[in-house]
Amino acid sequence: MMLEAFKQHKTIRHMTIGEEGYGQAGAIFRDEQDRIWLHLNGKISKRYAGNLTPLIRKTGDHPTAYDVDTSDIFTPFAARSHNLERHSDFICLDEELFVQKKTSTSYATHTVSRNPVPYGDILAPLFEIFMEPTILNEVLIRTSIPEVLRNEPPLSSGVILYGEGGTGKTALQKAIADVYQKAGAHSAELNVAALSEKYIGSLAHNLDAAIAAIVETSSKDGKPAFVFLDEATSLVMNTASHNSSGADYYQEAVDVLKKYIANYPDLVFSITTNADPETFDDTLIRDGRLAPVRIPVPGRHEKAGMWQFFIKKYNILDDISMENALQLADRIPMEKGAFISRFCKDYLARKKLAMETARAETGSLLDSLAAGHFVSLDSVKKQITLQTIMDDIGQSLENRPGKPARPVMGFVKKTAA
Ligand SMILES: Nc1ncnc2c1ncn2[C@@H]1O[C@H](COP(=O)(O)OP(=O)(O)OP(=O)(O)O)[C@@H](O)[C@H]1O
Ligand SMILES: [Mg+2]
Repeated sequence: MMLEAFKQHKTIRHMTIGEEGYGQAGAIFRDEQDRIWLHLNGKISKRYAGNLTPLIRKTGDHPTAYDVDTSDIFTPFAARSHNLERHSDFICLDEELFVQKKTSTSYATHTVSRNPVPYGDILAPLFEIFMEPTILNEVLIRTSIPEVLRNEPPLSSGVILYGEGGTGKTALQKAIADVYQKAGAHSAELNVAALSEKYIGSLAHNLDAAIAAIVETSSKDGKPAFVFLDEATSLVMNTASHNSSGADYYQEAVDVLKKYIANYPDLVFSITTNADPETFDDTLIRDGRLAPVRIPVPGRHEKAGMWQFFIKKYNILDDISMENALQLADRIPMEKGAFISRFCKDYLARKKLAMETARAETGSLLDSLAAGHFVSLDSVKKQITLQTIMDDIGQSLENRPGKPARPVMGFVKKTAA
């Protein structure tokens, strides 16, 4: 559609003085030094077609007299400068090159050359996820994060994140959704239970309607959408793993998913599950549809990273050294991220409670409060050292509900709720 529109328009090279238009995608790009280049054979259109299409004005007689507004424009990296310099179809809009070429005057200008949102900001949610780089890389590639960041069409259809509880599957999925949003794309969470209950109609029907609505939003502005389902085991299981009455019901829903994966490359899916990958529906993962990625229990360094992060996040201590963080990591050989985040989140409140109740002879918080005892958060924090944290971890491990943690052999399947 866009190509048809451009056919009717002239090239940038043939613009008349004072003429304005939006350059087609590829009309401007960057070299390795982040300098912006204009492709004179690129076409212009009167219609803005997204942040790859800059507004261009021919400002004078000189062959390089163009004014290009790059303030909200994404400029992909296209080629190295030494190749571009040899080509008369490309002109550099940055002064440095003209100086370098010893050209007397530069006519070409552009207002802002940087991408308006630095990638670091967009990616911030993912820096709060602690996982082995090879695992995280795989997930990011399979959820098309590099393309979303650069405003390119997704190359992958998505993932099934599986593995033990508390390893960060849900947190990772949420972080990816946040990155999509920050990058200007879409994300939407779907809930199998809610879709099953929603008035009359099957899960498949409701799922179809929900995804169709996301497609509509996504196609309106041409941005990809991340569709994520947390703990949607029923949607990834093969027919044999469902009981006979549920098989058809879920199979129809899986077929809906497959339909969208096959036909809508702008949709990227993510599903988390505790199920054994042996039970996954083969057709859902075949031919590069959804990539199953096992999220492992965290290693020593990932745990240390989480201790550093959560201790700071919940204001327990200021920065702790990596050495101390590793000591804390070694204190919980069997635990996962969920333990660390929960422990840190509750820590100040628990310490405060302990100090408050210690003031009442009965050990009752109620008595302590009634007697008007007051413990400030500051005085709580003054008591906290690495050693108190170490001791309290021990307490916390002993008092945890359920069985004591045992080393995990092979894959542990969570029993269905
Ligand atoms: N690898 C990790 N990186 C960062 N935070 C983590 C990680 N693992 C766990 N957490 C923290 O622990 C909390 C619980 O983890 P999360 O719910 O994501 O685990 P899960 O794998 O989805 O577990 P389940 O299978 O039981 O749903 C998260 O909200 C997060 O704060
Ligand atoms: Mg989860």
